[in-house]
Amino acid sequence: MKNISFPLRNAIGIFDSGVGGLSVFREIRKLIPDHPIIYFADQYHVPYGPRQLEEVYSLSKVITEFLIGQGAKIIVVACNTASAAALYPLRDEFPNTPFVGMEPAVKPAAERTHTGNVGVLATPATFQGKLYNSVVERFAKSVKIYQNTCPGLVQEIEKGNFQGKTTRLILENALHPMLENGIDTVVLGCTHYPFVIPLIKKIVGPDISVIDPSPAIATQTLRKMSELKNDSLSSDFNNSILLTSGPRNEFLRFIDKIKLNKNIVLEVDWSNDRKKINLVQSEND
Ligand code: DGL
Repeated sequence: MKNISFPLRNAIGIFDSGVGGLSVFREIRKLIPDHPIIYFADQYHVPYGPRQLEEVYSLSKVITEFLIGQGAKIIVVACNTASAAALYPLRDEFPNTPFVGMEPAVKPAAERTHTGNVGVLATPATFQGKLYNSVVERFAKSVKIYQNTCPGLVQEIEKGNFQGKTTRLILENALHPMLENGIDTVVLGCTHYPFVIPLIKKIVGPDISVIDPSPAIATQTLRKMSELKNDSLSSDFNNSILLTSGPRNEFLRFIDKIKLNKNIVLEVDWSNDRKKINLVQSEND
């Protein structure tokens, strides 16, 4: 791995089951341009959404340990499903590491809706988690929530299929029943979904607000970083390293599609031991 020596100093660690967290990564990059970031896409195990919360928790824990080992000072769980399964226990297990997690943006939606009807799109695991239920309990008392999963959507987005027929059909199936119930606000409760906002807008029309929480997560990351001691903020490396546990070429194709190609992209191997991730040198490096 040319010119990179792990562990990095004081990096921001970000992870997701795959490319979804890149919607959060790019917002963090905009707000914090001069800081090392290690992004981990677990494309070997994507999707997380249909898995048991316990399994997603185990995967999230191994990734967190790995990122801390590579120099992450703060961890952004850029995945609603992993946040649902693991955010609370990870905070307990790594008390010296600040965590930023995702929760479906029900609060801003409840504040914004005029009809009192809000739609939430997320994965099955996210809807099962305590985090989602506590958000609904706390913030959605005065509104009606219509929730739906989008089976297969994460896989289509992983393939870079933002506009195709299958993607449209999945979204129509999820959104039409909500529209019939008079929603005026849709919450994107999965970090993969911001990549299909243009298609979602085509389906719901101009009068419906679509809430993507990633800018707010970037602001929260900046806030958490400002709480760190000064010596935790300096670093001599300010690039981003994007890691995937899946095929590097496919990941590169996606990165190219969303125009993030100025970053270093490496592959890790997670195929042998569920408890251990290994950095591998890519043949192209
Ligand atoms: N991007 C993820 C989320 O925010 C995970 C989707 C999946 O892997 O099913 O929920």
